[in-house]
Amino acid sequence: MAVAAQTADSKHNIQAARQAYYDKAGKYNMAPLWEALKDLVTPEPKTQCQPAIWKFHDVRKLMLEAGDVITAEEAERRVLVLENPGEKGKSRITNSLFAGIQLILPGEIADVHRHVASAIRFVLEGDGAYTAVEGEKSMMGHGDFIITANWAPHDHGNPGKQPVMWLDVLDMPTINHFETSFAEHFDEKMQKTDHEDGDSFERFATGVLPDGLPATKNRSPVINYPYARMRPILERLKKTGDVDPRHGARVRYANPINGGPVLPTMGANLALFPKGFKGDSYRSTDGTIFAVAEGKGRTVIDGKPFDWAVNDVYVVPPWKSYHHEIGGEDAVLFSISDRPAQEALGIWREGK
Ligand SMILES: [Fe+2]
Repeated sequence: MAVAAQTADSKHNIQAARQAYYDKAGKYNMAPLWEALKDLVTPEPKTQCQPAIWKFHDVRKLMLEAGDVITAEEAERRVLVLENPGEKGKSRITNSLFAGIQLILPGEIADVHRHVASAIRFVLEGDGAYTAVEGEKSMMGHGDFIITANWAPHDHGNPGKQPVMWLDVLDMPTINHFETSFAEHFDEKMQKTDHEDGDSFERFATGVLPDGLPATKNRSPVINYPYARMRPILERLKKTGDVDPRHGARVRYANPINGGPVLPTMGANLALFPKGFKGDSYRSTDGTIFAVAEGKGRTVIDGKPFDWAVNDVYVVPPWKSYHHEIGGEDAVLFSISDRPAQEALGIWREGK
């Protein structure tokens, strides 16, 4: 008994001495690494991000209600944030990316502005709205993939007759991690657009390039990758059996000048899954956002099934295994992540 009491006593003394030392070091803004090391250098990626799905029938109803409570002009951008349930209040869907659903009603405009954060839009529902980027006015249709690069002026408008909704993904959390955010507004509400709809796609993504174009651009010059042009390519891949056992018949949206990603911070794919597809398990260090362009199916993430249908959005956290299961009809999934940023830093990994 006496020995046990003595041991407990000396342990207590050591802890008290250490704490006194830590308190003293703290006064000089210093701290013991050995107390924090195991949380800093983990053997595998650690994430607060949880798998989650946003069903379009809920999203649509809530978004149309937002149309009653605030105008696009008052809101600047009428967007509901898709908040990861593991990171509530942080305006992010993964640690590095923001996602939201934007609504623009007939007759509305969302003023021109620009910011360091890059953005992409993936159009969910409605016709007749446009996004104007760097002088090109681009009409938005279901499945269109539109990019707004770092510091590119952009505005949205809906001269049509239907409410239009799209998925916004921005690298805001990454930009704010580096504390490099700048933004500005313009005096005019809309850009002067002297480039026609589809101009940048025709000019840069059809096998020719304007002569003398610099080959080093780190972002795509194409503003809109129209679904109508992408979808038949997926069909070609399916027809020739070019179907990856994990990712389906998949294309990567590319910068036509150098084959690189569309943006240095975000990369996106479009994949067709033939009916009956049962995918192999996959994981990677880039937490990935999926949006359903066509069909329905199921993605099993970290052992948990998530059933999805058209326009649903869901997220797979970094390094969580997942696979896709497709039923009786083909399905098409859009996906986006921070993979280009991780690859540029040499820290991207994949596995199963
Ligand atoms: Fe913006």
